[in-house]
Amino acid sequence: MSRIHEALKKAEQERAASQGGPAQPSFATPAVEPLLTTAAEEPLVAVAAAVPAGGVPLTSAMPSFASPFSLDALLARCPQLQWKPDEKTMLFFNGDDTARGTEEFRTLRSRLYSTREKRALKKILVTSALPREGKSFTAANLAQVMVRQHGRRVLLIDADLRGPRLHMMLGTTASPGLSDYLQGETDEFSIMQRGAMDNLFFIPSGEEISDPSELVANGRLKFLLQRVEALFDWIIVDSPPAVPVSDASVLAKACDGVLMVVRSNTTPVDMARRARQEFSDQALVGVVLNGTDHESTPYSRYYHEAFVENVTESKS
Ligand SMILES: Nc1ncnc2c1ncn2[C@@H]1O[C@H](COP(=O)(O)OP(=O)(O)O)[C@@H](O)[C@H]1O
Ligand SMILES: [Mg+2]
Repeated sequence: MSRIHEALKKAEQERAASQGGPAQPSFATPAVEPLLTTAAEEPLVAVAAAVPAGGVPLTSAMPSFASPFSLDALLARCPQLQWKPDEKTMLFFNGDDTARGTEEFRTLRSRLYSTREKRALKKILVTSALPREGKSFTAANLAQVMVRQHGRRVLLIDADLRGPRLHMMLGTTASPGLSDYLQGETDEFSIMQRGAMDNLFFIPSGEEISDPSELVANGRLKFLLQRVEALFDWIIVDSPPAVPVSDASVLAKACDGVLMVVRSNTTPVDMARRARQEFSDQALVGVVLNGTDHESTPYSRYYHEAFVENVTESKS
């Protein structure tokens, strides 16, 4: 990753020299530039999180029927709600597949499929160094572009229990949701919902809780994913920022890979580096450079060149 870091550093130095301070992102026009880095050949070895003393036992609140995880059960038990998605940032709900940013998400989708040809990849954690870099934006739009392909079924999970946003972006309720499940209060299907978009299923964050770190580390998220993963083509997990809290690295252990969001012209290089260090080389499947402006932003070139170099290296 040293070339990536060098390029990030160079970009930051040039930005500071030319602008005298960090650039402010423009949210007016959604744009996301997907960039893929290493694609490790070996499947990730999942590490079970320890259940702390007094933690929630994995057997509590199990569904009462013997074999609940059929598609019929999913469709029968998962309620269809009236979502009111934010049309400015939820790019695929209005049926216009030519809107700005949609092409980049299609590219990201195809690169993830390419990566999946080389390694086990279904459960993807979306994270970044800091708040407001576009993790939720990326997770939600990635889930949408995945289900635009006929017959693909996707589960989107809001695992940012500290600052949940996905329910607001999708215009729906926040609970029941993940925190309720992690506390052992409900079963898998009771926390899932769907809206108007066929095949897109959503687990919101759930009731606000005081101990998010303990909950995400109690082992039940991994258990949840194992129980439902056969029903979905992709599972996209939105997370808290990786630098200030450890939740994202715990969540990554329940997933197959990590997609790192870097906010163009905004993410400080040291923060990007620290976030990167939270995850192993194997875990990192890609980097999304979010909020680029191709015409006026010279800095994205450095991120871009760095990650493209890395792809070339990893393929040779
Ligand atoms: N590329 C983008 N184009 C337009 N709006 C964006 C873009 N990326 C993020 N946003 C908006 O910026 C805000 C912060 O993004 P969000 O995804 O919530 O960040 P995070 O999850 O990293 O905290 C949200 O209102 C989101 O809709
Ligand atoms: Mg978020």
